[in-house]
Amino acid sequence: MTAIDAPTELPLNLHEYEAAARAILPPMVLDYISGGSCDEVTLRANRTAFDRWRLLPRVLAGLREVTTTTTVLGQEIAFPVLIAPSGLHRLAHDEGELATARAAWSAGTIYTMSTAATVAMETIGREGGPWWFQLYVFSDRAITRDLVERAAAAGAAALVVTVDVPLLGRREADERNRFTLPDGLTLANLHAPRHRFIPSSDDGSGLNTYIGATWEPALNWDDLDWLASLSSLPVIPKGILHPADAARAFDHGARAVIVSNHGGRQLDSAVASLDALPAVVAAVDGRGEILLDGGIRRGTDILKALALGARAVLIGRPTYWGLAAGGEAGVRHILELLRAELALDLMLCGLASPEEVTRELLVPADTLISDGTKSPSPGSTGEGLG
Ligand code: GLV
Repeated sequence: MTAIDAPTELPLNLHEYEAAARAILPPMVLDYISGGSCDEVTLRANRTAFDRWRLLPRVLAGLREVTTTTTVLGQEIAFPVLIAPSGLHRLAHDEGELATARAAWSAGTIYTMSTAATVAMETIGREGGPWWFQLYVFSDRAITRDLVERAAAAGAAALVVTVDVPLLGRREADERNRFTLPDGLTLANLHAPRHRFIPSSDDGSGLNTYIGATWEPALNWDDLDWLASLSSLPVIPKGILHPADAARAFDHGARAVIVSNHGGRQLDSAVASLDALPAVVAAVDGRGEILLDGGIRRGTDILKALALGARAVLIGRPTYWGLAAGGEAGVRHILELLRAELALDLMLCGLASPEEVTRELLVPADTLISDGTKSPSPGSTGEGLG
């Protein structure tokens, strides 16, 4: 009997990409990528927050086609999904951030490079665009300034400043695994050996040791002003959940903000990003664009975030899944899946473009009563942080 090879089929959705990556990546890498902090309450909440909203579609809209094209800070993108900053991509695929960036560009969107990338920003800058640079502020301000100036010179179009890591959240799997970088991988954006290598640590996560020794814990609003003054790049603080912080960011040079809890990897029990969004949108009151990351896995998740006021969303963990499963092609396919799902979902909602998505599309699931005495009220509130 001849053995018949199982067909090698592409994953159908992001969940299947996650399953594929789980079968490929070594446990230490998988734990680092998938893990949240402590009891992972926020990690789970980022997903369940989407389930608490239902869509109330319109019919007979007469649409033959829809567009997913939109803009972020004036940059046209093919759909409102960007690559979130996340470090150490060569843990998942040898080409690392170069594969991620190429995938983002061929899918028509923006790649955000992490300070903690394993490919240097100059390599990305030579390769193409558009890309943004995400900054971690080092206690050594000369290094910080150098990173910003190099990013601007290399062609970054914005500076994303992560503001939710005064210290690293407690990631117990990384502690247990004594997480460090395998030989041959370095933090390619940094030059001095002290900054370029993550130490191995006998008593916990090497990343935690590294961050405790090098990053600035005492970042404040004056620092945001300083960072905005270093270059002409628009500054986008990332990791904001409180509406007052979001509004204040625009008094300190921010051009947009990213609502995020760092994928549930920092303060555990912090509010889910989607739950924080409505109050942030209200407080910012149109002063700038609001982006969101945390838990986006489906086209309908994108719709819900847009309906609550996000201009666009970013994906983090799915990038690693795509890299692990197929390198550049895997990341591109993940982005294409999201774009195709969004296009279909817009059509099914009777909406011609992301611009047409409004709060009217959403109904809080807990107001839906099944005895038939009440109909869902479009755009009904039930919001706040709940
Ligand atoms: C670093 O910021 C991480 O989330 O691992």
